[in-house]
Amino acid sequence: MIQALGIYREVLHSPDRETDDSRILELTGRALALRGCSVTLKRAEEIGGASDLAGLRPDLVFMMCEQEGILHLVEEKFGSRAQVFNSVESVRNTYRFRMIPRLQQAGVPMPESRLVSVSGPVPESVFPVWVKRGDVHNTRKGDVFPARTSPEIDEAFASFRSRGITHALLQEHVPGDLIKFYGIGDAGPALEDGSFRPWFKWFYHKNQDLKRHPFSEEDLREATRSAARALGLEVYGGDAIAAAGGRLVLIDLNAWPSFALFRDEASRAIAETLLYRTRERVKA
Ligand SMILES: Nc1ncnc2c1ncn2[C@@H]1O[C@H](COP(=O)(O)OP(=O)(O)OP(=O)(O)O)[C@@H](O)[C@H]1O
Ligand SMILES: [Mg+2]
Repeated sequence: MIQALGIYREVLHSPDRETDDSRILELTGRALALRGCSVTLKRAEEIGGASDLAGLRPDLVFMMCEQEGILHLVEEKFGSRAQVFNSVESVRNTYRFRMIPRLQQAGVPMPESRLVSVSGPVPESVFPVWVKRGDVHNTRKGDVFPARTSPEIDEAFASFRSRGITHALLQEHVPGDLIKFYGIGDAGPALEDGSFRPWFKWFYHKNQDLKRHPFSEEDLREATRSAARALGLEVYGGDAIAAAGGRLVLIDLNAWPSFALFRDEASRAIAETLLYRTRERVKA
């Protein structure tokens, strides 16, 4: 029997989304159990050191946690014996200072983006410009916002410095329709006989004055797929903008989002993808 260990996201990394994030992990656990796995779930906050993982011998780890301490523990304890989703390295790759260069290198269409040190002078910018902390995603007010003046950037940099955040991302503002997307199973190969296929959904973010700029769904799919591959993510989601003139840009990619509108369907697709990948590994 496949032993599966699920680890919840750190509450600190789920601002206003704690329940949504927990639900998808729990439903995935249930879907794995229905497919014959023995499933254990742990809160990230319960795992402070290796002893908190003692006695666990998972073949498959499915995790939404993101902090380096726990990633390191999972890698050390289970990296060589278990299939880990998303892989530890791919979760690390979602930190902005790793993500931006990787996506740029892969040729993923993005707004113009510069990673800068928050200790240096405020770079010249075209306003508004998005200021984003250079490491993890938004955890509180001021982490991600559109700055309209240089002093606003200066203030944000000072706040980042005081919190030990060394880099910031300055990103071109792209006006347009905000798209949310979710994907599963794009990092590795699909099955030739078609019995394993990646899963993908997109929708317009609610509460916006939609312009319905036309864009190619295939381009969106291709951009998100190449972004997921560049980071190594099997379970991912993010934001894109469809702008005037058919311009489509990816603005954010997250490991294992909440899949809020598609939870039941997504949890089954995730469970099947992870089991498929785990069995492939056992065969290899
Ligand atoms: N370059 C941009 N152009 C236009 N809008 C942007 C841009 N960057 C960010 N935004 C807006 O800000 C939101 C949050 O940005 P982003 O997804 O990069 O940050 P985050 O840290 O992941 O925050 P969240 O957890 O809220 O998604 C986006 O969903 C979008 O509405
Ligand atoms: Mg985001």
